[in-house]
Amino acid sequence: IMDTPTIGIVKSLVPALQEHGSEITTRFYAKMFEAHPELLNIFNHSNQRDGLQQQALATSVYAAAANIDDLTAILPAVKHIANKHCSLGVKPEHYPIVGKYLTLAIQDVLGDVVTPELLSAWKKAYTMISDAFIQLEQQIYQEEEQCRGGWAGFRPFTVKSRQQVAEDIVALELEAADGQPIIEDYLPGQYVTVKIEKDGFEHLRQYSLCDVPGSHHTYRIAVKFEDTSRELQRAGLVSSYIHYHVRAGDTLLVSAPAGVFTLDTTLTNPVALLAGGVGITPIMSMLRTVAEQQPDREVQLAYAVRDHHFHAFADDLKQLAEGAPTVSSTIFYENGTEEDVEQRRCSYIGRINAAWLEQHIPGNAEVYVCGPRPFMQVMISTLLRQGHPMEHIHYEVFGPALSFSVD
Ligand code: FAD
Ligand code: HEM
Repeated sequence: IMDTPTIGIVKSLVPALQEHGSEITTRFYAKMFEAHPELLNIFNHSNQRDGLQQQALATSVYAAAANIDDLTAILPAVKHIANKHCSLGVKPEHYPIVGKYLTLAIQDVLGDVVTPELLSAWKKAYTMISDAFIQLEQQIYQEEEQCRGGWAGFRPFTVKSRQQVAEDIVALELEAADGQPIIEDYLPGQYVTVKIEKDGFEHLRQYSLCDVPGSHHTYRIAVKFEDTSRELQRAGLVSSYIHYHVRAGDTLLVSAPAGVFTLDTTLTNPVALLAGGVGITPIMSMLRTVAEQQPDREVQLAYAVRDHHFHAFADDLKQLAEGAPTVSSTIFYENGTEEDVEQRRCSYIGRINAAWLEQHIPGNAEVYVCGPRPFMQVMISTLLRQGHPMEHIHYEVFGPALSFSVD
């Protein structure tokens, strides 16, 4: 517990931290990786290049400092981060390292502004924040380990089958290499982290589980080949490795399911699922789960893709919608043709627009959105304008989340 003057001192530091945010974080990471190159096995190198991760971690430390008198105010964000940390294998002993180099960077950049009194208050605040994370993360690790089929850290899984589900997406069915049970009661929408080794480093990436939890003894993930620049040498590290090198029979290291973007099957209000591109993966799990476990619950799925080449799980979706009268599925092809509509490959040509959302998403719906950042930005801001409360809008960003903002 912190005394009131200390709280005041910490809060007074926050504006300066925010103002010099990128300078501090750049210095922080450079110094930390210089002293602890082993941490390059945990942090995503491409996110480092883009600066997204820098922004995300540091901004949330400042947000926590600004709420130091009541950390429960930022609990949803803390839960999201703690889940991500656990999926990556972040340990209690990592916190003092991050604290040390973040503090050094703050001192470097802010200089004389950081009086001994400020420094001591800041250190107390960081300890309090990290204790909150450590406690929650220990709890998550314990639950993962103790539940049926649970495990700690990374566990070898064998690729049981590999299937091209769209031109740019390959699905992998994974089973535990030791033949022992795996966690089957994960929540629809959760992800696992996959670890691969390449160029002398370990690389960790999250992939959403796309099947219904329970009963399969396997996990299914679907990985999009990422090449934003359309130049092979700049293709995504892990996704290109999976597309080029991972085949049935191969082994991948996988961490336990985690994540807070999950469908709550105890609710009965309508569900709206809005997916763009590979964002369909967690949505598939939610759709399958609700169709199987809540056959009376109304579901609206809207799925936007470029054209039929990129339309993943097309047959599964068709079957699901035909077999479940409460499920309504609408496919949008951005570059579709009249023939696509005639052949009923898609329902509309173009994007999911405000008019469609207005007409099809009931005001009391629980809405789940997953797709590229611009897609989510448009969907969420439109829904908010149409009166949907933020508490009913759930989203997952396939990258560092706190650098994501809704207009
Ligand atoms: P990275 O190496 O991380 O590169 C990222 C991007 O930068 C790529 O687009 C790449 O083309 C570009 N790039 C790389 N090098 C350069 C360079 N030198 N110059 C310019 N650009 C460059 N993905 C899925 O496919 N399916 C899922 O179900 C899924 N679920 C996810 C769930 C969560 C919770 C999260 C956080 C992410 C999820 N992702 C999913 C995304 C996934 O984790 C990876 O981020 C994605 O596969 C890209 O990783 P990569 O290693 O291939 O790309
Ligand atoms: C990701 C916050 C400490 C390792 C993140 C993210 C945030 C965050 C906001 C982005 C979440 C997302 O992807 O949506 C914090 C805070 C910390 C802290 C507030 C301290 C109080 C640590 C520590 C480590 C660590 C001690 C371990 C060395 C990571 C990694 C990622 C991450 C590896 C994902 C990185 C990536 O995508 O490159 N953290 N973090 N964090 N954090 Fe932390």
